[in-house]
Amino acid sequence: MDWEHAVTVVRPGWERRHGAAGRCAAHDLPDRVAMVATSWDLTVLGPLATGWESVVVAVHDVSGQPGVLKCRPPADPGTRREAVVLTRLASPGLVPLIASAPDEGVLWLGRVVPGHALSQELDDQAAVDAWCQVASSLPRVVPDPEGTGASTAPFPTLDHQLGALEVWQATLSKGQGRLAQWVVAVAHRLAASTRDPSLLHGDLHDENILAAGGGAFYAIDPKGVWGDPAYEPACFLMNRWMRSSGPSERMAGALAERLLLDGGRVLGWTLVHTALSLAWSQEDDGVAAPATDSRWTLLRHGARFIGGWKA
Ligand SMILES: Nc1ncnc2c1ncn2[C@@H]1O[C@H](COP(=O)(O)OP(=O)(O)O)[C@@H](O)[C@H]1O
Ligand SMILES: [Mg+2]
Repeated sequence: MDWEHAVTVVRPGWERRHGAAGRCAAHDLPDRVAMVATSWDLTVLGPLATGWESVVVAVHDVSGQPGVLKCRPPADPGTRREAVVLTRLASPGLVPLIASAPDEGVLWLGRVVPGHALSQELDDQAAVDAWCQVASSLPRVVPDPEGTGASTAPFPTLDHQLGALEVWQATLSKGQGRLAQWVVAVAHRLAASTRDPSLLHGDLHDENILAAGGGAFYAIDPKGVWGDPAYEPACFLMNRWMRSSGPSERMAGALAERLLLDGGRVLGWTLVHTALSLAWSQEDDGVAAPATDSRWTLLRHGARFIGGWKA
């Protein structure tokens, strides 16, 4: 991938979110990377990948150790937030943060080699094994018991994120509205009965877990959210089930057992996350997802598993 391609891919999103500052950040990116790399004594090999909101550039240090620079616009608060969560959740299953330059929008991370995403693993059992290996290595970070609400900053709480469901639900047609109402009630029940909120990776789906060879895996791209540990598998299960034959109680149960979580809560949060994903897409795109969207199919099937919903 060359610079021109990388910049062309991220420019529209950076401009949408940050206006003129986003456009400049895209234009200046190669110079900004060169400047930061020089200050860290790194050799720049070139853009490796583009993500949802970033350009990831391959580098190596003076001893030849491979690394990446994850680059966002300097105005994006996501860089600082990712640096904090990488530090608080540091563990053998999480990509190491080596240094950060938040004012430049750049993080220096270890490079995962070969770095194939877990989404390429077609066997569900092998994918669950890898997911559990990574998730069980993350430390359990709880809010400061002496602290006030401020101790959870700079991360949102899951309760706060659920607010997006209310807006979404109000915009739906009658049929979808009934299913949405049901899933919102599930969300409130799960939130109200959460006993031990912890700091979660918050985006641990199978595109954000990379293979390092020899059976080792690393999580990348943590978002940081305070919530029920049973929420952590939700985006992983949603993605897998959307691509395969649909929801599997057995898969949720096996994963929950390995992580000492409640299988019913894991399944419930997966449906709630599916609804959240529909709500976030609607916020971003300005239009509702069609009824044929595979997330609606997953919601309808999943709802039958946990009862209370008759189509
Ligand atoms: N530490 C890393 N080692 C190897 N590849 C990486 C690393 N971090 C990111 N990547 C690559 O860059 C892509 C985007 O990175 P990611 O952190 O997920 O960005 P975004 O927040 O934009 O989704 C990943 O899908 C992966 O291909
Ligand atoms: Mg990502």
